[in-house]
Amino acid sequence: MRSISTSEYAQRRQQLMQRMTPNSIAILPAAAISTRNSSVEYPYRQHSDFFYLSGFAEPEAVLVLIPKREHGEFIVFCRERNPERELWDGLRAGQEGVIADYQADDAFPINDIDDILPGLIEGRDRVYYSIGNNPEFDQQMMEWLNSIRSKARMGAQPPEEFVVLDHLLHDARLYKSSAEIATMQQAADISCRAHIRAMQASKPGLHEYHLEAELDYEFRKGGARLPAYSSIVASGHNACILHYTENNAPLQDGDLVLIDAGCEIDCYASDITRTFPVNGRFSPEQKAIYEIVLQANLEAMNYISPQHRWNDAHDATVRVITAGLLALGLLQGELDELIASEAYKPFYMHRAGHWLGLDVHDVGDYKVHGEWRMLEVGMTMTVEPGIYIAVDNHTVPAQWRGIGVRIEDDVVVTDNGCQVLTNAVPKTVEAIEQLMAAAQQTGA
Ligand code: GLY
Ligand code: MN
Ligand code: MN
Repeated sequence: MRSISTSEYAQRRQQLMQRMTPNSIAILPAAAISTRNSSVEYPYRQHSDFFYLSGFAEPEAVLVLIPKREHGEFIVFCRERNPERELWDGLRAGQEGVIADYQADDAFPINDIDDILPGLIEGRDRVYYSIGNNPEFDQQMMEWLNSIRSKARMGAQPPEEFVVLDHLLHDARLYKSSAEIATMQQAADISCRAHIRAMQASKPGLHEYHLEAELDYEFRKGGARLPAYSSIVASGHNACILHYTENNAPLQDGDLVLIDAGCEIDCYASDITRTFPVNGRFSPEQKAIYEIVLQANLEAMNYISPQHRWNDAHDATVRVITAGLLALGLLQGELDELIASEAYKPFYMHRAGHWLGLDVHDVGDYKVHGEWRMLEVGMTMTVEPGIYIAVDNHTVPAQWRGIGVRIEDDVVVTDNGCQVLTNAVPKTVEAIEQLMAAAQQTGA
């Protein structure tokens, strides 16, 4: 069962077409197939814009929207049914399938696109197309355009304008419906179970990839086909490498391990980070840093509501983290001056979050007319403050070096605040230590 109904996909197309100018056409190619090596391909994942408008997950397809076209506004080019190819590669919807199951008004074989698409473009004033994302398709677009131009003497009218679709479409994607939020909750629930499983499995002597295997097991068992991004399992000072994905170091007694991992369901992402001790017990220094990051994470949630701007949560985390580092003596000076001079940046160098949706770093503007935008109901985002003390940071005493902590949750803006989708995985020191101690007892 698909989690977004066909009528919701139809509404999305209608909403976009209402925002398009009269006598225009929108053209969106499916994601390109990507070769891994020799005859092996990367697992196919549909382009998020294409999927948002159709729910159609097959490669080698093109989606066309022509508002108010008499013979149908929603046209799909896709692969033809082919019993032999389907025997090898899997079933295809074919033209009848996209009409019956995806509500296309009209459908054509993808192999006929050179003959048909120029005729659909011809005579339209404006083409909405996101140039630069798919070089091969860009080239095809140029060829179709030139084929129309070559017929200009016979009366063919090439379009006057090419406009990227991104702004119209990406603004719509920012506001999640209840079905989208339910799907994101499902992805978050599976990811929470995966993080809990990794905490329960952790012990010195294993490697980072053992914990990654626990995550993958729980993702797949929950029905998720893919992680939403490459899982980060970073123990010890690897946690200070923000996008560490080697995941092959041994887990050392006395170290922390930072796991940033989330699965996707029907292309909707979850994105969770938890940091916990390999052996189940925080050291005093690890606990001190952890408590600051946790306080920043919780404080940020107080600044996520329709009364706040995008940046307010980030500013709240900066204040808590700077004050915390000051209190521990890892920064020296006066709080407001340290914030103004960005003295926290060697320890906290990233933003407190990002939009979340079909893409893990989801689309949508963060500023409107040069100002941080006001949050609105249905927007979904992460909250992910962190402190990372580099091993070679000689401004701090040695016992603090190499500690990296991030705590990341997924939230949805509601009428009077925000709803946290990822509360099912523990994040206080006490709850993590309890969970891990219980697992060690049953495992012993
Ligand atoms: N996992 C990527 C991020 O947290 O933004
Ligand atoms: Mn993350
Ligand atoms: Mn994130």
